Formats: sequence, structure tokens, C-alpha cells
Amino acid sequence: MNEREVNTLLEFLRFPSVSTQSEHVVDMIACAEWLKQKFLDLGFQADVYQTGGHPAVIARTPHDPAQPTILVYGHYDVQPPEPLAEWTTPPFQPSIRDGRIYARGSTDNKGQIMAHILGAGDLLAQGGTLPVNLIFLVEGEEEIGSDNLGPLLERHRVELDCDVIVISDTGMAADGYPTLTFSLRGIAALEFTVHGPSHDLHSGVFGGAVMNPVTAAARLIASLHDQDGKVAIDGFYNDVRPLLDWEREAAAALPITDADIRALAGVAELAGEPGFSAIERVGARPTAEVNGMGGGYRGEGTKTVLPREAFAKLTFRLVPNQKPEEILRLAEAHLRAHCPKGVRLEILSGHGGEPYYVDPNSVYGKASLRALERVFGRRPALMREGGSIPIVTTFKKVLGADSLLLALAAPDCRAHSPNENFPLENFFAGMKLNQAIIEEIGRLK
Ligand code: BES
Ligand code: MN
Repeated sequence: MNEREVNTLLEFLRFPSVSTQSEHVVDMIACAEWLKQKFLDLGFQADVYQTGGHPAVIARTPHDPAQPTILVYGHYDVQPPEPLAEWTTPPFQPSIRDGRIYARGSTDNKGQIMAHILGAGDLLAQGGTLPVNLIFLVEGEEEIGSDNLGPLLERHRVELDCDVIVISDTGMAADGYPTLTFSLRGIAALEFTVHGPSHDLHSGVFGGAVMNPVTAAARLIASLHDQDGKVAIDGFYNDVRPLLDWEREAAAALPITDADIRALAGVAELAGEPGFSAIERVGARPTAEVNGMGGGYRGEGTKTVLPREAFAKLTFRLVPNQKPEEILRLAEAHLRAHCPKGVRLEILSGHGGEPYYVDPNSVYGKASLRALERVFGRRPALMREGGSIPIVTTFKKVLGADSLLLALAAPDCRAHSPNENFPLENFFAGMKLNQAIIEEIGRLK
């Protein structure tokens, strides 16, 4: 059953469309072209659009001005699959085990967007006309901040004009539990390098007289948090809007506990800012994370070296009303002020995205709640999520439309991790969800 749909997803998953690694540029193009052809085969108009980076694919049904227009957004780019040794089966050779597809991108986001594409394709194949105009926008740079998609939206704002945006790129509160995500955290990325001596030194000959760049980097990283786990950057919390009472109640009512999150993370004990539950910490509070750090000897055995440099890659997760540019400014000032003497600090700001927050009880919000309830058979959870989809605030600014974030990812999907997987059940539910949302929004005109 549904063999054709599953095979289509497997084909999609075989493209190693890793946006951040330049060796995959050709795979990105091949994946975008394949997607365009898939849309054409399903009966959509479709084209590949060049951007300043990886291409985007836009597909649509014929436009009827009397009907509402839904733009369905997703991304075909994926996170790097490393560390490869931790995958049970290779990341770009999808494998089905116990009702789940294992592959990089299976959940984030190829499985989720393909469910929408095939759900709509199914309706077209049935021959009837849809009660809405549909536009699909599938981009190749979500996992690197969507910097080139904003300009594409500006250039094509008339063709992309829509009433509402539908996105499945978030997680369910619990397995099979319908979930409307009404807020996403924003993000601000920064990378620093600590430069020390002109070359790697003998640590016996020079150690004690020369500042060690790895020590300096470690001190900088440690300075980001206080003993309680709060971010220690001056002014970091200035613009944070406190949780509203109803939000705290909604968070407490979610079918997910601190113990669930502890188990999913595979840790013995949770950590974080005092005074908040784990789900509040990830959904509604800002953070500073170290995504990577390095420097010095990492090979076998020992090497007595005083390395010439060290680096760290940081991202800050932001909540309303923090602004990425302001946070980067504060972080840079903090790092400069805390950098030990004897080394030179180089800071490179990366991508940024604003936090997103939408009223779940708007007319479209309610339509999406009805669609979720129809497909999953119970009242949806309302959740604030910790991840980021930077383009959603740009959608609001450029197209004037809100995004409905309808979760299809399972809590244990392992997005961004080895052994990422997507339950086939969610894939099929996603196809139905696409059809239900088309029907619910089609009724609103
Ligand atoms: N699907 C995620 C976003 C997400 C994850 C939302 C979990 C809610 C819960 C998306 O593909 C993603 O990973 N985005 C990146 C964006 C960043 C690289 C600019 C993220 O959040 O790290
Ligand atoms: Mn992702």
C-alpha cells in the first residue's frame, strides 16, 4: 500500500543535498531538478529558480482569483550526516525498519514536505479542481539560514502572493499527537577564532610564558553562562517578553514531561535556567549554545604542543522580542571584554533569524486546528518550539502572511543526529493533513 508514494520519498532521500558543504553543489542542483520533474509529473506547473546560493523550486496550480491561496513551504536541503560511523545504515541509502524510514532528511524536511506534495498530487490525480490555489516553495538553504530566499521572495512577491502559509517542519508534542506550533525561536550565529603564537610551539619550552589559545577559547566559552545556567552576557535578557499565564498553562498541559525530554536526550539529568520546565526552557527562553570547538592536537597519544589557534562556533536561540543583530552586538562586546591578554580574538558573525510568534486562534489558525483534529482524531496541542525556521518572519514581512506550523515530526525523529528517521505512519498522515487543510481553508472564502 502506498508503495508508489514511499518509493518517491526514497528517491528524494537518495540525494545527498547537504547545503553547507560545497562538495554537494551538484547534488543540490540535481535534487532541485528532480523535484521540479516530480511536480510536473503530478500535474503542477513548476520551475527551478536560481538564487545567490542553492536553487529553489516553485510549483503551483492554475490561479483562480476567487479562491484563497495557500503557500506550502519546505526545504530539500539537509544537515551534514556526520558522524557517519554512528549510522546503522548509510544516511543517503534510505532503509525501512519497524515502520520507519531511516535517512538524513527523512524527517527534516524531505519526508514532511513530500507528504504535502503527494497529498496535493493525489487530489489533482482524482481530477477535480481544488477549492484553493496552491503554491509550493521548496528551498535549498533552510539549514544554513535562508539568506538568499528573502531576495527571491521580493523579486517574485506578486506570483507568491498568498493568504496563508503551511509548513510541516516541526515536532509533535508526543507520538501521533496533533500539534500546532505557534512560536519558534530565532537564531543568531557567531564563530570566533583565538589567535596565539605565530606557529605551534613546544609546550615545555614556551608553556607558562605564552597564553594558550585553547585555554583562552575555553575561558570565553565558560564565560557565556553563570553557575545557574543563565546566559551571562550583559543585556541578553533585556528584550525577552516574559511567559504569559496562558502560555505557562498550555506548556504544563502538553503531553510531554521533563522526564520525556530527559529520556529523548539520553541524559541522566537535565540542566538549564532555573524556574522553568524543560519544555519552557526550549520553547520560550533564549540560550547560548556551543555547536563546536577545537584547536590543538586530537590525534592518537600525546603531543606536547602549545597550539597557535583555537575556534568555537556558537548559536544563540532567541525569543520575542530579541533581535539577532542586537544579540550579536552584545555577544561580541562580551567576548571582547572577557578575552584573556596575549591572544587576538577574531569574530565572524553568521546568519540570523528572528523569533516567530503567531496567534493560534486566528481564522486560519482555527482552520488548521480543525484539519489536525480530523486527521489525528484528537484536540491538537499548542506548542512553542525551540528550533528555528528563519524564513517565516520574512514571509510575514514580504508576503504579509502568517505561517501555520503543522507538526509531522516524531519526538524521537533524531533530526540533525545520526539515524534520523520518519515513521511511515506520519508520512501517510501528512498526505491526509494536506488534503484536510486544503478543504478547511477552501471553506473559508
Ligand atoms: N525543522 C527545523 C526547525 C525546527 C526543529 C523547528 C525542531 C522546531 C523544532 C529546521 O530544519 C532547522 O533545523 N532549522 C535550523 C535553522 C538554522 C540552521 C538557521 C535550526 O533550527 O537549527
Ligand atoms: Mn533542520
